Amino acid sequence: MLLSFHSYKGGTGKTTFVSNLGVHLAQQGQKICIIDTDVNGPGLHSLFDVHFSATLVDFLQDECKITEIIYKPYKNMDLYIIPSKACEEDITSMFNSPGEAKDKMLEIIKFLKRQLQVDHVLFDCSPGINKSSLLTMNIADRATIVSTIDIQDIRGTYILSNMSSKLGTKSNLLFNRTPRDKSDEIYAIVAEFSKKLGASLLGSLTFDDTVARTWSRKLVVLEEKDCDYCQQLRTIATRLLVP
Ligand SMILES: Nc1ncnc2c1ncn2[C@@H]1O[C@H](COP(=O)(O)OP(=O)(O)O)[C@@H](O)[C@H]1O
Ligand SMILES: [Mg+2]
Repeated sequence: MLLSFHSYKGGTGKTTFVSNLGVHLAQQGQKICIIDTDVNGPGLHSLFDVHFSATLVDFLQDECKITEIIYKPYKNMDLYIIPSKACEEDITSMFNSPGEAKDKMLEIIKFLKRQLQVDHVLFDCSPGINKSSLLTMNIADRATIVSTIDIQDIRGTYILSNMSSKLGTKSNLLFNRTPRDKSDEIYAIVAEFSKKLGASLLGSLTFDDTVARTWSRKLVVLEEKDCDYCQQLRTIATRLLVP
């Protein structure tokens, strides 16, 4: 499956979630590739202790081969990472038309499926409404919108979910950093909101100090696997992959 992860505002927890989810699924024996398509503010590489040189941007700009941008951080897992480097351009503006950008992204996906037999591709997308996030949303089988309960995020989530419907991509909502002490009350509110939008609610991840204290330097699924965040992530992962 091609799964994209979006948000209206930055900092809702996409990169953290996608990275930990990718490792969790790979630990379960799935072949996973995570692609950082947030070329204006890439962050995926920070969570993996690997030296990255060639990136997605280099491949899109025809400066290297596809094999040079795929990294395998752990020997014992079929987890592949395609990092990005900071770039002022949008993915689509590197090409003459959005169609060309889409074809180039599809070339990567074809390679991952045919040569590496990847089961699921996870896209860590750029926040906000821009051509690059819409391109990824369009390619994806399922778009997950990661939101907090902040009204700025909620309003943006509404917009993104409508965009996803227009593109014909099924959307899921995931609420992150929800306050622990009011989790039942909040769950009822976000469930109602998701219903109104016609989007499925994947669940909510409470604010977890263990995650906050990683400062994006390590993966809790590897080092703190009993933390609340990891337990909630495992439930969400199962729901996400239901066909
Ligand atoms: N459930 C959570 N509890 C506490 N901190 C979190 C949680 N999820 C993410 N964070 C922290 O929030 C910050 C932003 O997360 P990040 O994944 O980089 O967001 P995004 O990719 O959406 O911009 C990071 O410092 C991360 O460790
Ligand atoms: Mg990010």
